[in-house]
Order: sequence, then structure tokens, then C-alpha cells
Amino acid sequence: MTRDQAREKVIFALDSSEFAHVQYWAETLSDRVGMFKVGKQLFTACGPATVRMIQKFGGEVFLDLKFHDIPNTVAMASLEAARLGVKLFNLHALGGYEMMARTVEALDKEFKGGERAKVLAVTILTSSTEETLRQVGIESPVEEMVVRLATLARKAGIDGVVASPREIPLIREACGPDFLIVTPGVRPAFAALNDQKRVMTPAEAVRAGGDYLVIGRPIGDAPDPAGAAEMILDEILAG
Ligand code: C5P
Repeated sequence: MTRDQAREKVIFALDSSEFAHVQYWAETLSDRVGMFKVGKQLFTACGPATVRMIQKFGGEVFLDLKFHDIPNTVAMASLEAARLGVKLFNLHALGGYEMMARTVEALDKEFKGGERAKVLAVTILTSSTEETLRQVGIESPVEEMVVRLATLARKAGIDGVVASPREIPLIREACGPDFLIVTPGVRPAFAALNDQKRVMTPAEAVRAGGDYLVIGRPIGDAPDPAGAAEMILDEILAG
């Protein structure tokens, strides 16, 4: 793997509400990481202008809004996400087969086989436990649900999933080599765990088969964020 291929894999999580902050990150890091993740906090505070600003600095965007609604609403919202020119965005697989299939159909119709945003499904949030699932009437174990929802997403034409690094082998086995796996919960050897519990290093997550790694605080909280991003690339290449 080349250094540029390793760089493409790193997605920096912009967990902030401050446009000026984010502008600083976009300017400093657009040559250092492959993508920027814009989530609900930032998007609610600063809107689509944030995506355009990142793109102006040459950055690519993963729009992490985790859509979950009736099929038509998700399909229409997804079209708007894709029209913003983001590279990745996501929805909840628990929204069901029709919601996912209608979304892919709407995108394919608009982009007619040309390059379009890739759609990821969230299976079971890593914050959920067996108890969380039981409370909403789901009796199956978490791992079984993760594989079941990833398989359903694939059948609906979804491009990949967001998953914990530990779930990668099971999902790879069920969904094959071309299904994208994007994984948070990654901690380089030099960084603090923060509130993450079951982590893998960048090299481990790539070796396990992760296509993209979502990394926030190890870069954002570092005294030298650009240097921290480069150290992560060193780790991936050494692994
Ligand atoms: O700072 P840190 O590297 O922990 O940031 C990880 C990012 O990935 C955050 O935006 C967090 O919300 C997100 N995420 C996560 N675990 C999940 C899903 C998303 O840490 N299971």
C-alpha cells in the first residue's frame, strides 16, 4: 500500500459546532486525510455551507446523518445529500429493505450509472447492548442482528456499512470483498482511549479488512494535528 492509499482510508471526524473551527481543520488537514465526517451536531449548527466550504479546500465529505424515516422521505433526503457532492452518506438499516432499495433506486436514476455518493448502512449502534435491543422488542443477539442487517442492506443495493472493528470479519464473510466497511473505534498507539472502549489500532483495523477508518480526537486534540495524521499513516504502513 502506498502512503496516498493509506491517506485515502483516514476519515477525520469533525465533532464541533463552530464553523470557524471546522474551517481551520479543513484548511490544515485537507491534504493530510482522505475525508471529513460531518455529523448531526455540525450539520444542524452550520448546514450545507459546511460541506461546500470543506470542498472548497479540496476535502471530500462523509455526511453522517443516519437517515431513518419512511422510504420516500429518506430517498428524497438522500438525493439532496448526493447533490451536495459528498462521497459517502448513511442511513439506518433498521428503516427496512424498502427504505434502502428506494434510496438506491432514486440515486441510480438521477446519476444514471455515473459517479455518485456511496450509501452506507448503520446496523446496530455500538452503544447498544443486548438489553437495549430487548427493550425495543428485539430478542436476537447483537452480532446476529449486525450480520442480518448488513446482509439485508447489501441485498437492497447499499454500498457498505459503518461497523465496529470487531464486527469486520463477520460482515466480510457475509457480504463479500466489495462491500465497504467504515469503522470508528480506532486508536493509534500514541493516542488516549477517551470514551472508546473496544478499540483497534489503525493497522489492526486495516488488516481486519476495514476500508475506511473514522478517527476524531487522536487527530483533533493532538498538539500538532497534521503531524498526528501523518503518524497514523506511518502506523498503517508499518502494519
Ligand atoms: O474522537 P473519536 O475518534 O472517538 O471519534 C469517533 C467518531 O466516530 C465520532 O464522531 C463518533 O461519534 C463516531 N462513532 C463512534 N462509534 C460508533 C459510531 C460512530 O465513535 N459506533
